[in-house]
Amino acid sequence: MNWHSGCTIGYQGQRVGLNQAQQHIHQESGYQAMNATFTSGFSFSKLSMAFGVAALGLLLGTSVADAGIKGSKHDLGASGTSQHGTTGNTNTTEVCVFCHTPHGANTGAAAPLWNKSLPAAGSYTRYSSLNSSTIDGAELAVGSVSLACLSCHDGSQAMDVMINKPGSGGYTAGGAAFQANAAMTGTPLPNLGVDISNDHPISIQYGGGGWVGGDTDGTAAAGDLADGSFKAGVKDTINTNPVWWIDTGNAGVRDKTDIILYTRTNGATKEPFVECASCHDPHNATAQPVSFMRISNAASAVCLACHDK
Ligand code: HEC
Ligand code: HEC
Ligand code: HEC
Ligand code: HEC
Repeated sequence: MNWHSGCTIGYQGQRVGLNQAQQHIHQESGYQAMNATFTSGFSFSKLSMAFGVAALGLLLGTSVADAGIKGSKHDLGASGTSQHGTTGNTNTTEVCVFCHTPHGANTGAAAPLWNKSLPAAGSYTRYSSLNSSTIDGAELAVGSVSLACLSCHDGSQAMDVMINKPGSGGYTAGGAAFQANAAMTGTPLPNLGVDISNDHPISIQYGGGGWVGGDTDGTAAAGDLADGSFKAGVKDTINTNPVWWIDTGNAGVRDKTDIILYTRTNGATKEPFVECASCHDPHNATAQPVSFMRISNAASAVCLACHDK
């Protein structure tokens, strides 16, 4: 199968973006492993789109029928189907720009090359406010990739506000509206609002109280969970950063069809945390049961990837 040339181009193209992201994101980042993720079918399918080789994903015979982000609910451009894309959003056919920019990105965001300003981390009502009798994990302030999701999904910022608008001279520090569209509507979904106590906990330690085993680098080992009712994960060290995930894709390799745990600093240690993008992949428009899931939730596979129930 003639995929090597496309693969090489795509891979190196992605590496450039990666390295830029790595320079900017030092903590709370789940991206250190992106070099390792290019083997997934999803990568190929998305990269094929990014590099204009539309059929590459099909040629590769991707394991899941990935639908690309273009034309999906995360396409806020003219061809999109979202509430934003259907309200007179005809100024650009670009897709990525509503979330990413190749230059001048928000380095305070733990999402790569992020093109939006972030909401205040402290403005949310958390799951912990319900005082569930059985919760064990420590909650950090809302952060990591979740804050990037909430920059649209908490309804506090117009969705077309971006730091670097399409075209020449589009940069505005802090962001500016592109074409005067509104903030997300519809609570509690898709607009979660700032009261996220009715949502699955995020910015929460994985494993019901974290992972207790020690590794030589001072972080938790892969299998030692405080609470045995969670599935053991995988740990790796990439560019000196510890990364953890639950293997639901290719064994031993962190890829986009794994349940990604996000590395955050909790006190003195770096630990794995559950964030929005642990369960969701914002690019995968395949409905399973809604768009943007990392894996199908048939038979509750998403839930059972973590919870041993
Ligand atoms: C609605 C917002 C949104 C849009 C639109 C979007 N992304 Fe992303 N992207 C994100 C978020 C959030 C992350 C971090 C998620 C994660 O940890 O996997 C991310 C991560 C990435 C990554 C690194 C992780 C991975 O999945 O490979 C790449 C590369 C990327 N995006 C490329 C693109 C490209 C290319 C486009 C346009 C075709 C695009 N994105 C459109 C939100 C978006
Ligand atoms: C990425 C791993 C992960 C996935 C996937 C996941 N969970 Fe969780 N879940 C957690 C963690 C960690 C907690 C916090 C538990 C603790 O610290 O006691 C939690 C908490 C919960 C709680 C609250 C427990 C309590 O004691 O108050 C419920 C209920 C729950 N999850 C159900 C689900 C369901 C249903 C799904 C699938 C839709 C799901 N989870 C998917 C990791 C996950
Ligand atoms: C630039 C704004 C923006 C960002 C950033 C963003 N979203 Fe969305 N998202 C939307 C819009 C718009 C919709 C469509 C809402 C509607 O149904 O009208 C949507 C819909 C969704 C849906 C529902 C899909 C369906 O099939 O109904 C999910 C799930 C979702 N987003 C998850 C995420 C996650 C997780 C992140 C972060 C990784 C994220 N989004 C970041 C704008 C955004
Ligand atoms: C533990 C896993 C998990 C986490 C963490 C998680 N989600 Fe979801 N989310 C799901 C599942 C599963 C569904 C599909 C539920 C359904 O069938 O309606 C979903 C559905 C959604 C939907 C579409 C709901 C609908 O019915 O239209 C949106 C929007 C969404 N999530 C956004 C987010 C955002 C934003 C975050 C972070 C603040 C987040 N999710 C965190 C598992 C998760």
